[in-house]
Amino acid sequence: MILDKFSLQGKVAVVTGGGQGLGKVFCLAYAEAGADVVVAELNPETGRQTVREVQMLGRRSVYIPTDVRQRASVYAMIEQAVQAFGRIDILMNNAGITKWCPAEDVSEEDWREVMDVNLNGVFYGCQAAAKHMLARGGGGVITNIASMSGMIVNYPQEQASYNTSKAAVMHLTKSLAAEWAEYGIRVNAIAPGYMGTAMAKPFFDDPQYGGVWIPAIPLKRPGSPEELGPLAVFLASEASSYVTGATVVIDGGYTIL
Ligand SMILES: NC(=O)c1ccc[n+]([C@@H]2O[C@H](COP(=O)([O-])OP(=O)(O)OC[C@H]3O[C@@H](n4cnc5c(N)ncnc54)[C@H](O)[C@@H]3O)[C@@H](O)[C@H]2O)c1
Repeated sequence: MILDKFSLQGKVAVVTGGGQGLGKVFCLAYAEAGADVVVAELNPETGRQTVREVQMLGRRSVYIPTDVRQRASVYAMIEQAVQAFGRIDILMNNAGITKWCPAEDVSEEDWREVMDVNLNGVFYGCQAAAKHMLARGGGGVITNIASMSGMIVNYPQEQASYNTSKAAVMHLTKSLAAEWAEYGIRVNAIAPGYMGTAMAKPFFDDPQYGGVWIPAIPLKRPGSPEELGPLAVFLASEASSYVTGATVVIDGGYTIL
């Protein structure tokens, strides 16, 4: 049956930044589809809360403290995840930050931090998970969270570091998909538009930001975080078996205009 292809029954998924926002939505969506979930998160309180909510859905879940800026932390997390559940089938590289600042004033520290979380952290996750997937004979699915900001320049916020990091995530995704296709590892990205999380929601009612953003969205509203869950399950499941190297845009039409 067609819906069986969306099942994640018996799979093990790792989600970085799974404590809140989109990451939490991905954890719960994977769990609803049948997967056990590793919550890899910097914040122990939110990370453990997501674990409890996954467990309430009847799935196994563990919190593993993770700082994606640190390669060693990401590698240790993948190792602990394999110890906990025996394997990893799905990796969602979701953790991300933004810093708004006119480009001419961005400090070296801030530039590096955005790159460390949004780009380097994604690469460390892909690399560590792929080593595990290759060692057990190949197969697996990786999804990286990019952004529409990797395709266009959003305004009026000034976020050159964020835009650049997300464009790089999209090309990293293609590069890794090309390298690992022969081993049955699919690598895709999701490019969300404005979604109602801590990162963007506080600005929706601000005339300076939301007042500019929302009229420019063809669907005339921001996305609800839960609207990303089905796409994440699609990309993690057999339903997308011929999709690799793709960046799927989910933005209410923002980037078509
Ligand atoms: N909200 C949006 O409008 C939007 C749009 C496009 C893309 N995105 C992307 O979606 C992803 C999730 O964003 P969100 O809106 O849920 O943000 P959020 O700020 O609500 O959540 C981010 C999560 O990542 C965690 N995190 C941050 N730094 C970390 C680190 N070094 N190591 C481990 N975890 C870390 C945070 O603790 C938090 O739980 C990000 O990659 C973001 O760039 C968001």
